[in-house]
Amino acid sequence: MPSTVLIGAQWGDEGKGKITDLIAGEYDYVVRYQGGNNAGHTVIHGDKKLALHLIPSGVMYENAVPVIGNGVVIDPGVLVKEMAMLEAEGVSCSRLLISCDAHIIMPYHKDLDGASEKRLGKNQIGTTKRGIGPCYQDKMARRGIRVQDLLDEKVFRMKVEAALSQVNPILEKVYGLHTYTVEEIIEEIAPYSSIFRQHMAETTQLLNDALREGKNILFEGAQGTLLDIDHGTYPFVTSSSCCAGGAATGTGVGPTKITKVLGIQKAYVTRVGSGPFPTELRFPEDGGEGEEAAAGELLCSVGHEYGVTTGRKRRCGWFDAVIARYAAEVNGITDIALTKLDVLSEFDTLKVCVAYECDGKRYDYFPMQQSVLYHSKPIYEELPGWKGVDITGCTSFEELPENAQRYIEYIEELTGVPCSIISVAPDRDQTIFRGWSSK
Ligand code: GDP
Ligand code: IMO
Ligand code: MG
Repeated sequence: MPSTVLIGAQWGDEGKGKITDLIAGEYDYVVRYQGGNNAGHTVIHGDKKLALHLIPSGVMYENAVPVIGNGVVIDPGVLVKEMAMLEAEGVSCSRLLISCDAHIIMPYHKDLDGASEKRLGKNQIGTTKRGIGPCYQDKMARRGIRVQDLLDEKVFRMKVEAALSQVNPILEKVYGLHTYTVEEIIEEIAPYSSIFRQHMAETTQLLNDALREGKNILFEGAQGTLLDIDHGTYPFVTSSSCCAGGAATGTGVGPTKITKVLGIQKAYVTRVGSGPFPTELRFPEDGGEGEEAAAGELLCSVGHEYGVTTGRKRRCGWFDAVIARYAAEVNGITDIALTKLDVLSEFDTLKVCVAYECDGKRYDYFPMQQSVLYHSKPIYEELPGWKGVDITGCTSFEELPENAQRYIEYIEELTGVPCSIISVAPDRDQTIFRGWSSK
């Protein structure tokens, strides 16, 4: 049966929340497979904007079962708060299922995230400081604490003792931070065992059974391709597998069961945190000037480009077809959802990066060496805009101004992938469907 992986094709914040919420009604399960509350996915609920960090955006539909898969890292305090927020908005979380194998973000993970960033100084990654990296570090070091460990007090104590025997010396000797006693951790985390007990499930078996029964699944990616631990701009990445392949390891559903990969592409690019960004239009405070800085400021203000999780101003730049092609390949994207096209209505002329130039060499493909990416100059094609035309009410491709149609077709030509969903404003109904099918 069909299942779809929805992924960010850039550096995150492409509008995954809106598109997940938009199509979730077509699916029986909506599953997060990686990341944690570093994500900030915005959905519109009535006249309110809701920010979801941990719970799949499909929670808004009563027919879809929201699932937190084994590849996710969970901050229990955040989970409980988010559930309470949703319940207060009239959205029931009773169907939420959580994998027993998901790892738990412990208080010391957050301490270590902050301390490590501080130690890096000007080389810092610009993390969300939610403890994501250190939690995945412990998972890989095989000293992580999983949801199932909370089921048995004795097991939990044993696991915490083992973890602290390695983590405390790092806290104290490497970073000069306070250490934790086993009792402190048990006191803080054990009370959450009841919430996990209520929602825990054997999600791998359940999802595979569901597919066998003819049900369909939407895997909701967090972050984006260029933030992927393997395929992103390492080390300026997050610590999980955000790409489509992560959906298989992060849920236990085999790759042969995935039939579609929907890549979310913003009509321009943004990035939060440090790292290379070839098409960046630097803000004046980052050393940008003139027309470039003005274009960056305009994208930021019209697109409201401020982080949902940390409130940070997002760096902004023109659409980059080199990374779009790369994302299409490493994820096997079958369809593009192009978002925030309306934000470009403010520009006379639009630029699209078609290749990079570094030391006299042209790069049509994502360069192998990151130093090339750092020193690359974008090679731009200029396209006429549709300045002043309000496209937020357009419901079909044909209704869009001709230049907007050309912009979309150009992206399709450069990536080789059809734009089967086009988003022209934040609301669900402000979307153009152009051949999208979950089947
Ligand atoms: P995500 O992390 O990929 O889910 O994206 P975010 O929610 O962090 O950021 C996307 C922002 O853009 C949110 O505020 C959305 O409400 C908004 N948004 C989504 N699609 C559109 C669109 O087509 N036009 C405009 N103007 N805003 C949009
Ligand atoms: P959504 O799902 C944008 C970035 C951080 C930082 C890097 C590592 O809303 O698109 P981390 O806390 O994960 O260790 O930080 O990754 N980052 C995101 N940027 N959107 C996100 O999520 C992000 N999640 C992490 O800014 O550069
Ligand atoms: Mg976001």
